[in-house]
Amino acid sequence: MGDSVAMKILRSHLVSDPARMKPGEEILIRVDQTLTQDATGTMAYLQFEAMGVPQVRTKRSVSYVDHNTLQTGFENADDHAFLQSFAAKHGIYFSRPGNGICHQVHLERFSSPGHVLLGSDSHTPTGGGAGMIAIGAGGLDVAVAMAGGPFGLPMPKIVGVHLTGKRQPWVAAKDIILEMLRRLTVKGGVGKIFEYFGDGVADLTVPERATICNMGAELGATTSLFPSDDATRAFLEKQGRGGEWTRLVADEDAQYDEVIEIDLNTLEPLIAKPHSPDNVTTVKSLAGLKLDQVCIGSCTNSSYHDLAIAAHVLRGKHVAENLSMTLTPGSRQVFATIASNGVLADLIAAGARVLESACGPCIGMGQAPKSGGISLRSFNRNFEGRSGTPDAKVYLCSPETAAVSALRGVLTDPREAGEYVVTKEPDTYDTNDEGMIIPPSEHPETVTVERGPNIKPLPVRGPLEEVIEGDVLLKVGDNITTDHIMPAGSKILPLRSNIPAISEFVFVRVDPKFPERAKARGGGLIVAGSNYGQGSSREHAALAPMYLGVKAVLAKSFARIHRANLINFGILPLTFSNEADYDILQQDDVLTIPNVRDQLRKGSTIEVVQKSSGQKITCTCELSERQREILLSGGLLNHVRQGHAA
Ligand code: F3S
Repeated sequence: MGDSVAMKILRSHLVSDPARMKPGEEILIRVDQTLTQDATGTMAYLQFEAMGVPQVRTKRSVSYVDHNTLQTGFENADDHAFLQSFAAKHGIYFSRPGNGICHQVHLERFSSPGHVLLGSDSHTPTGGGAGMIAIGAGGLDVAVAMAGGPFGLPMPKIVGVHLTGKRQPWVAAKDIILEMLRRLTVKGGVGKIFEYFGDGVADLTVPERATICNMGAELGATTSLFPSDDATRAFLEKQGRGGEWTRLVADEDAQYDEVIEIDLNTLEPLIAKPHSPDNVTTVKSLAGLKLDQVCIGSCTNSSYHDLAIAAHVLRGKHVAENLSMTLTPGSRQVFATIASNGVLADLIAAGARVLESACGPCIGMGQAPKSGGISLRSFNRNFEGRSGTPDAKVYLCSPETAAVSALRGVLTDPREAGEYVVTKEPDTYDTNDEGMIIPPSEHPETVTVERGPNIKPLPVRGPLEEVIEGDVLLKVGDNITTDHIMPAGSKILPLRSNIPAISEFVFVRVDPKFPERAKARGGGLIVAGSNYGQGSSREHAALAPMYLGVKAVLAKSFARIHRANLINFGILPLTFSNEADYDILQQDDVLTIPNVRDQLRKGSTIEVVQKSSGQKITCTCELSERQREILLSGGLLNHVRQGHAA
């Protein structure tokens, strides 16, 4: 039986027992590349430093600054200086603020077919567009990988997505992933790798493939990927990196655990309604919706094509008066390219607002919509409040739909715009990185790491107690995102290297009294519904609750990355064996987990007692041997410091 592309890469990087490559069993893989962004990077580097390894042991590690590029106070500038000097000293490339969004730049300048990339950002799977296994993880996992340790994950199911037929004009790559979300929902990819194959693949450029892999994160997938074929070679050659190309395709008799069929002939423009990326319907069905804002950009859709198609639509016309339109080139390379060939001039003439190459509005850093405003975005997430305006309504669509709608002022099916002009990728890209991607120092011993007042020491929890006892500090429902747990935004993100300060914002949008209550009661537990922690790899959503004394989360189910982050920070992720027990527990109940160390050692069943009634709640905590040891140590950092292999 032949191998899929995903299986080939996993096999060639496996450092654990090959007999355990069965879905759900933990495997360990070697990591070739890492990436961090500034919101997660400072903490990842403090963790790397605590491991005492002087130089990274990966083939290439890159530090990006893209989330928090605004410098309205000293905090971000302190962080940028720390990241730049740290990178120089420890063998890491540094992509300066303004050079672009980590995933777009990484795809252009560092992607390599067949490599394993681990990134402390949930959209790291973008790299799958160039034939990599690219996985989002917590910063601590990335720090371990930089120190040469393997990455552990449950062996995913490999799902083949069979693309047949040909897209109709105005139907975009974005519509393929929106169709996946429509069918599978935000939970449909958990424990899975989506591998795209079939005749429809050849028609997609690497940036288009990257759009699909990027938003595969919204399915909850481990990752998504495409084969490395002639389109991949053409992309890498234009990047001046043709030497990195290798053909990597599935064997003819490759077996997949499941196969999903998508007929591109019948696909139409789609849109995700507020407030979830899987709330998908056709653009046609909502046509006429009045818009207040249109934004094209983010790591999902900020490639050359995405801006060029907007320029094609807007050329010689004007953005509608009732809305504001922003465009974000995903990288300095894209920016330089559109500046040199007239695309930028067309966009400016049409009245679009062109922003710095950075995450910007995607993470609520500027361009918040008006109160109750309707914003149409080419991004990947539309969670409530993420735009920076609590009651704004964000819709997600392709750049094609966004551009045509910006012209008319109302949501418009792009097929109404007339003839589709294929915007050819340029023959070459501007590959001069000089001054923007700074290589590590050749004399690291001479570099001093800059630590301004915003860089605070790393909090570490002690080993797991014999008994956990505490109040239910908060009871929440289903689909709580990492944005709910640890919000971002321009006031909070700058505090990411200062855990005592940022922990004042934990759950602040759900219950503003949470931090005060957690501190007053000396910590406690959280009770949650299903899919707790969905949305991002933001490890502050585990680290800051740990700082406030949260010892365990009892939930109906957990999102994969967040569950791994909880374990890494020594917080027990407990799943109700009987979901109905969720209804028994209330905020302020006192819960006890007796002999928790013994319970953990004995197996996956953990008994929790509701103190007032004496009622026993049975939970499960499925762990690999390594994860069990990490929890007993009080987290991954303690575990590594105790001399264990990562
Ligand atoms: Fe940045 Fe938004 Fe992507 S925050 S990394 S552009 S999801």
